[in-house]
Amino acid sequence: MAYAALRSIGAYVPQKVLTNDDLSQMVDTSDEWIYKRTGIKERRIAADNERNSDMGAAAAELALERSGIAKEDIDLVVCATISPDYFNMPSNATIIATKIGLKNVTSFDISAACTGFVYILSIAKAFIESGMKKNVLIIGSEKLSAITDWTDRGTCILFGDGAGAAVISATENKAEAIVDVHTGADGEYADLLMTPNGGSGSAHDDLDKEAGSCFMQMKGNETFKVAVRTLTKDVKEILADNNIESDSIKHFVPHQANYRIIKAVGDALKMKEEQVVLTVHKYGNTSGASIPMAINDIYESGRLQAGDMMLLDAFGGGLTWGSALVPFSPLQK
Ligand code: UT7
Repeated sequence: MAYAALRSIGAYVPQKVLTNDDLSQMVDTSDEWIYKRTGIKERRIAADNERNSDMGAAAAELALERSGIAKEDIDLVVCATISPDYFNMPSNATIIATKIGLKNVTSFDISAACTGFVYILSIAKAFIESGMKKNVLIIGSEKLSAITDWTDRGTCILFGDGAGAAVISATENKAEAIVDVHTGADGEYADLLMTPNGGSGSAHDDLDKEAGSCFMQMKGNETFKVAVRTLTKDVKEILADNNIESDSIKHFVPHQANYRIIKAVGDALKMKEEQVVLTVHKYGNTSGASIPMAINDIYESGRLQAGDMMLLDAFGGGLTWGSALVPFSPLQK
């Protein structure tokens, strides 16, 4: 049987830094409030002419280069995003595949908001284990600044731009395989976090006037409570299902939405500080890009070593959630 192994990671962050102090010039907020309530100090913002697919392509190029797998051997590209270059079509995955010179690939996007990377990990795993594909490039890429309401202090302080990518490939060696991926969703909570306008749910005549209001809206406090409750249950279940103790997790890589959510879930698992990967202070919430950007952070700082077991967890609009147990399994040179 074929198993699926995570071979490599890459990320891209835009140059422009937007600090909490910068935001306090734009809306009624302060560095103190933002840092205390979220753990965020600053976030990156893409340039006007920098597209989501440009960031995704840069992250993908790096992940491919580090994987040791030839471009012509990639047979599937999946992109998780809620801020694609074009809503509906063409897909970001298809644009990115062409930008980086991939031919003869299957490519599509998925929409699972901040849980997107965990979802595309499960898709890569399923395609590989079924034997349909062998080498899958997965990308989480977001230009959230384009769908942020910069007058709403309840949301605009949270989000940032960036991209992360990974190469997942087939292996016969179970020891290097992705152990498990959990995914879940509940549309009963759809209105907690959404972009309410601009889709086909809007009357045709309203589309023009709504075009400028396709921004994210969130009931932050309610979302926060569901996130802590759902994630704590989910990470406990994935560890129990696989007979893995939390102290054998080398890196706990949570979605970077809010330090207080990360801390609550980490504490419930009795994670030590050195196990918990944090980038929220410097990148804010980059939705589907946040987990691969965080994995890239520990890779580039030399903390991520071959064989290290990672526990990923994420939560986002939908509502959606998920977790994954993933060893880092680069191809041996
Ligand atoms: O990634 C996808 C999932 N997303 C999340 O998981 C995000 C979950 N939510 C959160 O992270 C938090 O709920 C927020 C950071 C968004 C808000 O923190 P909170 O502790 O839940 O604050 P709150 O919404 O209950 O607001 C408390 C107070 C309110 O004022 P009053 O009514 O107590 O007078 C808000 O109006 O803080 C006020 N407030 C602000 N004050 C200064 C809200 N936003 C701001 C702000 N600056 N930016």
